[in-house]
Amino acid sequence: MLAIIGGSGLTQLSNLAVERREVARTPYGEPSGALTFGRLCNEPVVFLARHGYGHTIPPHLVNYRANIWALKQAKVSGIISVASVGSIRADLGPGALVVPDQIIDYTWGRESTFFEGGGTPVKHVDFTHPYDQGLRRRLIEASRLAGEVALDGGVYAATQGPRLETAAEINRFERDGADVVGMTGMPEAVLARELDIPYAALNVVVNHAAGRSASAGGIVFDDIEAMLQSAMVRVRTILDKLCHV
Ligand code: HPA
Repeated sequence: MLAIIGGSGLTQLSNLAVERREVARTPYGEPSGALTFGRLCNEPVVFLARHGYGHTIPPHLVNYRANIWALKQAKVSGIISVASVGSIRADLGPGALVVPDQIIDYTWGRESTFFEGGGTPVKHVDFTHPYDQGLRRRLIEASRLAGEVALDGGVYAATQGPRLETAAEINRFERDGADVVGMTGMPEAVLARELDIPYAALNVVVNHAAGRSASAGGIVFDDIEAMLQSAMVRVRTILDKLCHV
């Protein structure tokens, strides 16, 4: 059973045939919301809205550990993360889809491991390739079946938020090699790795990152909102193809 973690704009999967909801308890507290079990193109899936079903939990306060632990308890075979991002690259405009293959983590102060010492042996996970290649391929292929082109590879910069970046910060991320920027990719990805759950992300570009748009002003939130709405319709169609690939 696959898990889908929906980000901004995807607090519900309208094409999910819901079978039951379950409030999960974990040693790390409560997940962002109840796990929604159902079927997507006739395969069992579990859905979780990362920011809560009312979109009330900001990126730095998401209980990533509880979310990933709850999905492990539900025995998921993999996690697909859907997350909106800003684009650092001029050739990736709003509406572009990216299946990233790398991460640079600029977040701070988040609970980012299950291995906290306290008498248990120190554990270091390998994170050379942060995303699962098999799930990445499925996302790219499902996109193709849905008539979409998802960029195969990209470096995701995970930033703290909830504010957007300064233009200089985006310039720095670009020098570091990042292609897109978002606020939730870490520690979600590494926590999944710590629990051995294959994890991949479908990033939806909803804006040019700070200082990168053609207009001289800042980022226009109404534009982001409109882009989120239209893009998530496409994302649902892609997710609906996952059972064919
Ligand atoms: N920066 C960080 N996170 C984001 C952005 C952005 O420009 N757009 C969507 N998520």
